[in-house]
Amino acid sequence: MAKKKLVLKQEEEHDSVTTQVRRADFPPHFVFGVSTSSYQIEGGVDEGGRGKSIWDVFSHTEGKIVDGSNADVSVDHYHRYKEDIDLIAELGFKAYRFSISWPRIFPDGLGTKVNEEGIAFYNNVIDSLLEKGIEPFVTLYHWDLPLHLHDSIGGWLNKQIVDYFAIFADACFAHFGDRVKNWTTINEPLHIAVGGYDTGRSAPGRSHNPSVETYLAAHHMILAHSAAVSIYQNKYKEKQGGQIGLVVDCEWAEANSDKIEDQCAAQRRVEFQLGWFLHPLYFGDYPKTMRERLGDRLPEFTDEDKELILNGPMDFVGLNQYTSRLVFHAEDSGEEGHFEKSQQVAKMVEWEDGEMIGEKAASDWLYIVPWGMRKVLKYISDTYNNPPIYIMENGMDDEENENVPLQEVLDDKRRVAFYKGYIAEVAQAIKDGVDVRGYCAWSLLDNFEWSHGYTKRFGLVYVDFKKGLTRHPKSSAIWFKDFLKDSQE
Ligand code: NOJ
Repeated sequence: MAKKKLVLKQEEEHDSVTTQVRRADFPPHFVFGVSTSSYQIEGGVDEGGRGKSIWDVFSHTEGKIVDGSNADVSVDHYHRYKEDIDLIAELGFKAYRFSISWPRIFPDGLGTKVNEEGIAFYNNVIDSLLEKGIEPFVTLYHWDLPLHLHDSIGGWLNKQIVDYFAIFADACFAHFGDRVKNWTTINEPLHIAVGGYDTGRSAPGRSHNPSVETYLAAHHMILAHSAAVSIYQNKYKEKQGGQIGLVVDCEWAEANSDKIEDQCAAQRRVEFQLGWFLHPLYFGDYPKTMRERLGDRLPEFTDEDKELILNGPMDFVGLNQYTSRLVFHAEDSGEEGHFEKSQQVAKMVEWEDGEMIGEKAASDWLYIVPWGMRKVLKYISDTYNNPPIYIMENGMDDEENENVPLQEVLDDKRRVAFYKGYIAEVAQAIKDGVDVRGYCAWSLLDNFEWSHGYTKRFGLVYVDFKKGLTRHPKSSAIWFKDFLKDSQE
C-alpha cells in the first residue's frame, strides 16, 4: 500500500471514524439543516415583479446548458414553498439554508425601490419556516445577479457593484432581520470568479480576459461581502442579535508524496481556494503564494479597502465541502483556465497503487472522499484561529436516467453511505477541537444543476419532472429523519 494512503487509513482506524455516527455525537445546540438556492429551485421567473438575472440569459443561450434546459419553472418552489417547508419539518431538520433572489428584491439591481412582491414572497417563506420551528439561514447572493447590473456597469468587474450589493444587503437586513438571525453574503466567490470570468462555464460566461477579470471580480466580491458585513455589524447586529459570514468552497488537496515540493503544492492549492478570500478577510491581504504566482494581476487593497475588510469582522466561516484530490507539483499542470494553470499543481484521483481516492458520483468533479471533510475543517481552524464554522453544503449526485424504475432511484443507498461517512468526519473534527456549529445537506430537492441542467440529481427528495413535479423522499431523506430523531431519545 502506498505510504501516504497507509497513514490515512491508520488515522481513520485509530479514530474509529468508520463506526456508526449518531446525532448524540454532536452537541445538542449543533444545528442540522438542508440547503437550496433561489435560481436552482424557485422558477416563477416572470412572476412577482422579478427582474431578469444573468442566469436567465445564460441558461437561454444555446450550448451553455448540457440538456438545453433552463430554470424558468425548475421545481416550482415559488408556488410550492409551503409543501417544501412541510417536507423539511417532517424530515426533522431544524435549519433551512436558502438564498434570496436579488432581482426579486431590486428588479434592475439599482436599489432605488424595493419590489414589495419579492419582499412578501420571502416573508412568507420565513414565516412558514418559523411556524414549523425551522431556523432560516439566508444567503444573499447565490449567483443570480440582476441582469441590468451586468449590462450597465459590467457586474462584478466594476467596483460600483460594492455599493449596489450593500444597498441590497441593507434592504434584506431591514425587512427580514427581525426574524432571520443567520446570514451569509456570497456563496462560493471562487466559483463565481472562475466559472463566470475564467472558464466561462457559469454566468455571465466570460473568458475574454481571464488573467485580469477573474481576480478583479473576486476582489470586488471581497469588498462587497465586507460592505454588507460592516452594515450588519454597525447598524443591525445589536438590535437584531444575529450573525453573518461568507460561504467558501474547498476541494481538499492531499500531497501524493512526502516530497517537499508536493507538500508545498498541496498547501498552495488550498491557499488558492480558501486563502484567496479568507486571508484578506482575516489578515488584510492575499496569500503570499498567490502574489508570487499572480503578481499584479492580483489587485491591491487600498488603505480604505483594508479598513473595510478588517473592520467589523464576520462571525463565522460558511463552508461548502464535497470532494478531494491527490496533488503534486507540476510546472505545467495541464489544467484548463488561468486560475488553475497559475497554481502549478497537478491533480489526480488514484493512489500510487492504482486504487481510486474514492468512488465517483455522477458529476465528473465529485469523488467521494469523506476524510477530506475533516482535513478542510482542521485546516480552517488552524489557519484562521479557530473561527466558528457552519457547513452550508455537502452532498452527492446521481445521474438522471429515465430507464431506472422510480423505486430503485429512491433507494439511494450510496447517498446514505455518503452522508454517514462525511457526517462521521464532521463529528471527528469537533473532537479535534474545530468549532463546527452546523451542517446543511445539499440539497433538499433535485434541482437545476447549473450548466448540467437536470442531468444530475443532488436531492434528498426526488422530483418527478415528468409527473407534475411531485416530490418523493429518497432513502437518504429517511436516513436523516431517523438520524435526527435519535437526538430526542
Ligand atoms: C455548490 C453550489 O453552491 C450549488 O449551487 C451546487 O448545486 C452544488 N455545489 C453542487 O454542484
